[in-house]
Amino acid sequence: MAAASSCPSFLFFLLLSTALFVSGEATSLLPLANLAALTFEEGYTQLFGDSNLMLHGDGRTVHLSLDERTGAGFASQDLYLHGFFSASIKLPSDYAAGVVVAFYLSNGDLFEKTHDEVDFEFLGNIRGREWRVQTNVYGNGSTAVGREERYGLWFDPTEDFHQYSILWSHQRIIFYVDNIAIREVVRTEAMGGEFPSKPMSLYATIWDGSTWATLGGRYKVNYKYAPYVAKFADLVLHGCSVNPMDHRTVSQGSDAGACDSIRLSTADERTAMAKFRRKHMTYSYCHDRVRYRSPPDECGIGPEAKNFLPSGESKLGKRHGRSSLGAVL
Ligand SMILES: *[C@@H]1O[C@H](CO)[C@@H](O)[C@H](O)[C@H]1NC(C)=O
Repeated sequence: MAAASSCPSFLFFLLLSTALFVSGEATSLLPLANLAALTFEEGYTQLFGDSNLMLHGDGRTVHLSLDERTGAGFASQDLYLHGFFSASIKLPSDYAAGVVVAFYLSNGDLFEKTHDEVDFEFLGNIRGREWRVQTNVYGNGSTAVGREERYGLWFDPTEDFHQYSILWSHQRIIFYVDNIAIREVVRTEAMGGEFPSKPMSLYATIWDGSTWATLGGRYKVNYKYAPYVAKFADLVLHGCSVNPMDHRTVSQGSDAGACDSIRLSTADERTAMAKFRRKHMTYSYCHDRVRYRSPPDECGIGPEAKNFLPSGESKLGKRHGRSSLGAVL
């Protein structure tokens, strides 16, 4: 794919962020907020769900629905090695227990035993309870080690579109909600091959997660409320696409290293992330002593550990709800 997805434009984006950083302006909302979105035809292809995938607005908005027949999903046409991947998503409202909406990078179809994956997963809930957002990372088939975190949100994700983004470089992965960094996964020596390092495609799906999504499977999808419709807009693919045959970066004469030099840039961005995590993180694998008697090596357990139960759930529980906060920043 040529459109907005090759290395030169990515390099431009890096230069732009550097320039803004040097000039002292806050970069947290720029320039990631202003990348050109693609139409469905330009960057994506349907995976499954026949007519449960519908295009609207000149192909710039995709509706994925789940009914008793099937869910639906799409994927990027290209494979990427690093980049910025984003969508504005509006989740199904009302009763949505058991429904899972996922926005993620994966190469599971290419590497059955050693796949990499970077996930945003949205877990539906019973009426009156909020959707939960989960992030996770697998590298080189490390499915025995889940690195899940879950969060409440400071808005109702079923009322409007909100932007969910993944920045993936050689050195780190950053998850964003409405351009606020919510999690940073740094490649550490200890993580070794468990940091995603092979080209991945971008996926968006809706499916029936009745067996596990809501309170460990206690609440199932109720098709009386179907169809469940998740809406995707502002689709951004901004990375280094690779040749699907040899998986080497399509260089087009650019400095391939440019795709690796992204970082969480400003102190403001870090402060906002820390604040979000203090207020809204409801579960972290790092604090889950039931699953991990001793936490995986990359977990630096700080003073916040006292706020978590041995199950990894936050003791602050309900206080993390939307009601407690107007805005994060
Ligand atoms: C990934 O896993 C395979 C099979 O377990 C192993 O041979 C390989 O060395 C691993 N790669 C890295 C980068 O750790």
